[in-house]
Amino acid sequence: MAQTLRILHVASEMVPFVKTGGLADVIGALPLALKAHKHDARVVIPGYRAALQVAKHHGLTWGGHTMTIEAGGVDHTVGVGMVDLHGVKVYFIACNELFERDGIYGPSQANDYDDNARRFAVFSKAALALPGYLGWVPHIVHAHDWQAGLVPALLERGFNKVLPATRSVFTVHNVAYQGSFWHFDMKLTGLDWALYNPLHLEHYGKLNLLKAGIVFADRVTTVSKRYAQEIQSREFGFGMEAVVSGHAYKLSGITNGIDADVWDPATDTLIPSRYDAKKLAGKHTCKERLRKDTGLFAEESPCLVAVVSRLVEQKGIDLLLDVVDPYILAGRMQLVVLGSGDLALEHRLHLLQARHPGWVYAWFGYNEELAHRIIAGSDMFLMPSITEPCGLTQLYSLRYGTLPLVRYTGGLADTVTDVAAGEGTGFTFGPADRGHFSSTLDRALGLYQHFPAEWKQAVKRAMAVDNSWKHVADEYIELYRSITFD
Ligand code: ADP
Ligand code: GLC
Repeated sequence: MAQTLRILHVASEMVPFVKTGGLADVIGALPLALKAHKHDARVVIPGYRAALQVAKHHGLTWGGHTMTIEAGGVDHTVGVGMVDLHGVKVYFIACNELFERDGIYGPSQANDYDDNARRFAVFSKAALALPGYLGWVPHIVHAHDWQAGLVPALLERGFNKVLPATRSVFTVHNVAYQGSFWHFDMKLTGLDWALYNPLHLEHYGKLNLLKAGIVFADRVTTVSKRYAQEIQSREFGFGMEAVVSGHAYKLSGITNGIDADVWDPATDTLIPSRYDAKKLAGKHTCKERLRKDTGLFAEESPCLVAVVSRLVEQKGIDLLLDVVDPYILAGRMQLVVLGSGDLALEHRLHLLQARHPGWVYAWFGYNEELAHRIIAGSDMFLMPSITEPCGLTQLYSLRYGTLPLVRYTGGLADTVTDVAAGEGTGFTFGPADRGHFSSTLDRALGLYQHFPAEWKQAVKRAMAVDNSWKHVADEYIELYRSITFD
């Protein structure tokens, strides 16, 4: 019988405890999928105030004693909380002076906390001390993004002597976020100053935690196959391209899955009416309700187009704002937007809404339920991202029969095929410019208006695609096995 693997995921976010983006969805689902394959997958995340509050509702318990974690000559007392989430053990690293705050990464979305290097150095060390604390030794420590970037480096340098056979995997969810800090923060890592050089932890004069993960991990993955190629180029590498290509021998792309239980229109209790590919009437009800609830006119002909997104440059929202007015004025589309982030983008969206009352609705903030209702109730989903490592919302949209219109990049290119190719599930465009985006939007709206039967066929094809974690987990398991010894 195949051996049961013990895997510890180290990450900064996890659904349902704390989420700012898709990383949380991945950490909320992958360990469960590994468990379904009979592996012992566990997770450790920081005990942010908000995360602990949610954890209390899931039966949070506390370990009998604390750990002391040193960083830069200061000792931090760390408590270990635990929740059993559907059979997956989730640990919370609690530390009052580091995580008992209102924010996750900073006091607001625009500002980071000054001591983030310390916060995540302590978190990474605590994650590696956890196996000793628990008396549970993982085969694999799987660290995610810059917040856990020190984990592979500390492991390789023997920070935890009880883990000599443990191997590391590091996943880059977005190369644009690197955890870059001034050189004196090296002291917090406890690693040898000799590693502060361009081949290891130094990157253009700064300590770079993403680089630490890439350089020291036994295997590096990114969240789609195409993105694994893209980040080796100057256009998409955000300055990390040479480091990534220098370590390409251990790099692979594994495209994210979706939690097919949470995102299922046939069982989703957050939407007004359930439906599936055979009975689409419920989708129509969701659309009617969405229009009613958002104050959009109940016109028959326009296509209801959605955006659910962090409002940041990466997502191409500017491009959208530059081209949509004529389509709305022509009565061909209505737009509903849910997002938060960049205030300048929010302002432009406010103005768009003011220009087109009854045709555009925008809601600013984070709202899980509204995200479900929008994705279920819309006809089309827009993601004109400049860069997109994987993207999850286009996968949710496919499942809900809401045809995605995406830029052909990263995971979007790997998961959406254009209807022009015959058997497609959405619409794609190449260069990130107004002309290409606009002509593709025109083409998509044309199909919606003039070829309803073809549209419906595409909806059915989209809903039939299986992007669940079940299959993706196999790819990770194969990777884990390739570096596990006993
Ligand atoms: P990213 O991680 O780059 O933001 P993804 O598509 O991978 O992009 O994941 C985004 C996740 O965040 C999805 O689960 C999406 O539904 C959710 N999301 C984004 N913005 C909001 C919002 N304003 N309210 C609710 N959910 C949101
Ligand atoms: C990042 C990426 C997004 C990806 C998510 C989960 O936030 O921006 O494309 O889907 O991580 O891997």
